[in-house]
Amino acid sequence: MSTLWQGRFEGGPADELLAFTVSLPVDRRLAVDDLAGSRAHVRGLARAGILTDDEAAVVLAALDRVGDELVSGRFTFEPTDEDIHTAIERRVTALAGAAGAKLHTGRSRNDQVATALRLWCKRELAAVARRVLTLQRTLLDRAREAGAAYLPGYTHLQRAQPVLLAHHLLAHGWALARDVDRLLDCRRRADVSALGAGALAGSSLPLDPDATARDLGFASRFENSLDAVSDRDFVAEALFALSLVAVHLSRMGEEVIVWSTDEFGFARLDDAYATGSSMLPQKKNPDIAELARGKAGRVIGDLTGLLATLKGLPLSYNRDLQEDKEPLFDAVDQLSLGLTAMAGLYGTLTFDVARMQAAADSPYAAATDLAELLVDRGTPFRDAHALVGALVRDSLERHVPLAELVEAHPDLGADGAALLEPGRPVSRRRTAGGAGPDPVSLQLERFGRRLEVDAERLGESSE
Ligand code: ARG
Repeated sequence: MSTLWQGRFEGGPADELLAFTVSLPVDRRLAVDDLAGSRAHVRGLARAGILTDDEAAVVLAALDRVGDELVSGRFTFEPTDEDIHTAIERRVTALAGAAGAKLHTGRSRNDQVATALRLWCKRELAAVARRVLTLQRTLLDRAREAGAAYLPGYTHLQRAQPVLLAHHLLAHGWALARDVDRLLDCRRRADVSALGAGALAGSSLPLDPDATARDLGFASRFENSLDAVSDRDFVAEALFALSLVAVHLSRMGEEVIVWSTDEFGFARLDDAYATGSSMLPQKKNPDIAELARGKAGRVIGDLTGLLATLKGLPLSYNRDLQEDKEPLFDAVDQLSLGLTAMAGLYGTLTFDVARMQAAADSPYAAATDLAELLVDRGTPFRDAHALVGALVRDSLERHVPLAELVEAHPDLGADGAALLEPGRPVSRRRTAGGAGPDPVSLQLERFGRRLEVDAERLGESSE
């Protein structure tokens, strides 16, 4: 058995060693990024005069061929291919002979892995952000359709004040807008080449990390070779940004779960986005929403697992760092599926607006409006709050409709009673960013523009 390090060793590796240390099943998805890094490195070696132009051409052709073999499934892995980087180099050497044996000059798997993973992050974080955008577009469409529909807004899951349904839906939309921002921001910090850091200290050969960084489309190169091979901040913060997306999906899922209960009855699930029960014929279950909630735990686990791996690692590269990929890939995979499923779920929900509005039309939901009417008429808010609170208590205790008590009150009268009419309270939320029709129509425009801006940012940064 041949390994990358066999010169220093008398015997081959134990089976147990290989079984425990291989990462190929996980990191084979870095193949395209490893190939890109290798091509840039070969061109760098040619510029440095370490490979002749002919040798470089032979190695580049071998890299292309390996790429084809990997894509078509014709690539045969060997038991000693401990990771994708080893496998590719082994095959390139077999194809390109003496020139191939020069591929790894001035390079270590340490800078190679970090570079490939950074390329992977740049592409995949943008792809996740694009899926977030799709979900946001669904929310925008649903919010536009919702028109003047309203429902109770809640605090402490107790009815608080009526809000437009559009306002409620866009609340999720803005949280997701911050997620897009965060994903792009952490993509920016991933956009640094590690190639040329070598094993940990750079090289004695005339290599140019700036040139290979440019070749690979990175915004810059590493500043410090020790940092370059040991830094996984970019993975940790990607996992945090992804965890927060997962948390937002979980909250949206929880909402669908609650809204689709008989008790709430605010939304009905589309058949295509619901599941049945194997035993209870009447059931229609919100499994997507539940898994959106459940998978958040898993993605948070991916983040905390990586942080625990990084904690206490001495400089610079340690094999522990190999454990960075599985949580990252898992989080990206779970969110990619989850975002698409949630867009389908939200896009196909049927809202029961009559039920929402009936729940919001409780006269008590207008209590703040009554207090604000008193404020309008010169009563200090604290006194107005106490006065209305007493009316509510009186109404509940004596089972007298609040409207009657309000009408009879000298400071409130008919104007006060009119505030209790269905739909009145929500129409009075006029301040910027508020829940009423005027601010919400402005908000719909601003949200739509925000999605256009983000689409453009993602188009530009998708390479
Ligand atoms: N598969 C390893 C990783 O992902 C490659 C690096 C191995 N480097 C080493 N010095 N043993 O980290």
